[in-house]
Amino acid sequence: MADVTSDGSGARPAGWPSGRLGHNRSVTVPRPVEASSALMARARRVTPGGVNSPVRAFTAVGGTPRFIRSASGALLTDVDGNEYVDLICSWGPMLLGHAHPEVQAAVAAAVARGTSYGTPTEPEVELAEEIVARTPVERVRFVSSGTEATMSAIRLARGFTGRDVIVKFAGCYHGHVDSLLASAGSGLATLAVPGTAGVPVSSTALTIVLPYNDRAAVTAAFTEHGDRIACLVTEAAAGNMGVVPPEPGFNAFLAETCRSHGALFVSDEVMTGFRASRQGYWGIDGAQEGWVPDLVTFGKVMGGGFPAAAFGGRADVMALLAPEGPVYQAGTLSGNPIATTAGLATLRLADEGVYEHLTKAGETIKAGATDALTAAGVPHVVQSAGTMFSVFFTGGPVTDFAGASAQDTAAYAAFFHAMLEGGVYLPPSAYEAWFLSAAHDDAAIDTIMSALPGAAQAAARASEDPT
Ligand SMILES: Cc1ncc(COP(=O)(O)O)c(C=O)c1O
Repeated sequence: MADVTSDGSGARPAGWPSGRLGHNRSVTVPRPVEASSALMARARRVTPGGVNSPVRAFTAVGGTPRFIRSASGALLTDVDGNEYVDLICSWGPMLLGHAHPEVQAAVAAAVARGTSYGTPTEPEVELAEEIVARTPVERVRFVSSGTEATMSAIRLARGFTGRDVIVKFAGCYHGHVDSLLASAGSGLATLAVPGTAGVPVSSTALTIVLPYNDRAAVTAAFTEHGDRIACLVTEAAAGNMGVVPPEPGFNAFLAETCRSHGALFVSDEVMTGFRASRQGYWGIDGAQEGWVPDLVTFGKVMGGGFPAAAFGGRADVMALLAPEGPVYQAGTLSGNPIATTAGLATLRLADEGVYEHLTKAGETIKAGATDALTAAGVPHVVQSAGTMFSVFFTGGPVTDFAGASAQDTAAYAAFFHAMLEGGVYLPPSAYEAWFLSAAHDDAAIDTIMSALPGAAQAAARASEDPT
């Protein structure tokens, strides 16, 4: 990718038509929400909570979720005609921005050839080759969601090791797999309890939940249960409690602890993969330090906005999967030709220039958020993992879920709504990363920077008056 400026100004990268998107807007009257409200009322009558994934319901921030009608580049347009600069990016997948012309063309051509055959296809092979070339995995198997990827990786780890216990960290999310929706038991290194209704005690009885970044807790758990542990699964850098990077050497320590106890190290790169860096978060730590995870899970960016995910890793471990080996795993739409075509087009366009752009745009926005919140006197800390970042509404640094949970969520809710009025769609929860894309150009960044001071003042007022 050639035409990214090096001045941090966020000019549009290759593949996008040049020119401004024209989405700056002076805020004088509240944005209309009637059409979104009406749709939400209809949705509630036919769908629990009106949404198909809980965070979309605005439960944490209150108010009306905006129903989006279309999106292009960095912009969302809702059913009331409001435009927003998108800082959700579909919770990570839209690395290049919405409706990228080249991805759209590839998808349209694929759709014209039929949408699903239930047979092997060439795009699957090409996408697998691209993933193997960019990451430490030797073999990869496609599934349709990150949840399936982690669920399958755990089954494979258990099949390979012949062991049953798994270890995870509080605040790391790996999809809605029963055994991973677990909360820490009464003491470190004890087995976990269900983290949600509907998960039987028996599903979490083989899970150990530990505090993130806590080496002593990991050592204690492996000392006590090491000969029963099939795998430790961790986000490569935590992004689901806000962005909490692993402390330097933490992932290497986990990899070595697993190795020395005969357990597998499963690095969940569903969020960080092809986003934190070209090689995912592993490109920032393992590739530099010289270690590799045994298994890796992927999703989000590799599907280019379609339902595609994957797990992969060591050839000898992956060889245990059916039909080569005895560990069963399958899927009607796994490796779907449209999804793999979108993912392939996305990854081929996601060159170093895209990551440079995300880094520079992120630096500008992080500095703007810091300045605005500092000026307004709002305690906060901005944290990053590669090109990913988030803003915590608590004094930092945040190293684990307990720290993330100390946030002033009322201040975030006020900040969120002020940003929304200012034309910026942030994640409707304080516990999420802010996602950028290659399409976040100067105009998009200007809109964000203009909205920040007023939003910071709204957060300050909410902090002072928590009613
Ligand atoms: C790190 C991580 N793993 C797994 C998942 C689950 O992916 P999906 O929502 O595609 O099931 C997510 C989703 O946000 C995630 O962030």
